[in-house]
Amino acid sequence: MIYSRIVGTGSYLPPRVVGNAEFASRLDTSDQWIRERTGIVQRHIADESQTSSDLALAASRAALEAASLKPEDIDLIIVATSTPDFIFPSTACLLQAKLGIRNCPAFDVQAVCSGFVYALATADNFIRVGMNKCALVVGAEVFSRILDWNDRGTCVLFGDGAGAVVLARAEQPGLHASVLRADGSHADILSVPGNVCGGRIVGSPYLRMQGGQVFKFAVKVLDEVARETVAAAGMQLADVDWLIPHQANVRILEATARKLGLPLERLVVTVDHHGNTSAASVPLALDEYVRAGKIRAGHRVMMLGVGGGFTWGATLATM
Ligand code: ACO
Repeated sequence: MIYSRIVGTGSYLPPRVVGNAEFASRLDTSDQWIRERTGIVQRHIADESQTSSDLALAASRAALEAASLKPEDIDLIIVATSTPDFIFPSTACLLQAKLGIRNCPAFDVQAVCSGFVYALATADNFIRVGMNKCALVVGAEVFSRILDWNDRGTCVLFGDGAGAVVLARAEQPGLHASVLRADGSHADILSVPGNVCGGRIVGSPYLRMQGGQVFKFAVKVLDEVARETVAAAGMQLADVDWLIPHQANVRILEATARKLGLPLERLVVTVDHHGNTSAASVPLALDEYVRAGKIRAGHRVMMLGVGGGFTWGATLATM
């Protein structure tokens, strides 16, 4: 049997850190409100000159170094992003050029905050059928570009960043099972409902969200998809060493762990210092815990995504 395995992780955060006090100084909000309702203390915001492919490049280089591989070893690039550099070419193609390689397939996956889990499952399948041997899977976002900075209900929640993994062909799993889901009937509760037409923006270029509905939906589907994924892998929830949910809000994370009956010590939390980085949040969190020596070889990690669409999904992997 052919499997895939994560052989290196990397991440990148732009240097500019924005604390809650910056919002409180110009909007009707407070550090206390943001901390209590979301758990967020600070987030990183990209410089105007930085694009998603720049962030992706730095994260990819770190993942390649961790895997002791070179860009030429990569034969598939998938970038999960909802904030691409351009309408086209894809951010994955731009990343490929920045890595100085050619010819391997490169494409973007757009599943908003579930994007990384979607991209990982896609790369796993490409490897399992024997089409590719070594994939770079990246989540990269500059969500700061699609926020209305005067809307206190949304602008305090998000940050910019990128995370990457190298996924290589292996004889043992690796990735045990993935489950992906979507329900487009919920498009209106979380969206950026705009597009470019004839040189003009039609609709809104800013993120809109019905926070309460997103919250309830996220907790419900994260619990369901985690259970489906352990069942698909032929395992039990007790076999999971680390739960890495999409880092949206600490209350969503803790509610999910509680519903699943997992102790909070096994819950990976980075939303407090990253904010919600959409498709980048899961690989950023994974890399942080790997580099801190908390997630180690042999640990079983459940990665969970949920986001606009609505989309959601999970992957269970042995590191
Ligand atoms: N500071 C102060 N007050 C605020 C702020 C703010 N930054 N934002 C909203 N409020 C106000 C609201 O206007 C409202 O005031 P009102 O009662 O006078 O109308 C009040 O706070 C309560 O608003 P709620 O929306 O009910 O507050 P809630 O406890 O639900 O928290 C939040 C809001 C944090 C957005 C929460 O609903 C949430 O986290 N939802 C999940 C959304 C999320 O994480 N989205 C990320 C993208 S989706 C994803 O990644 C899955």
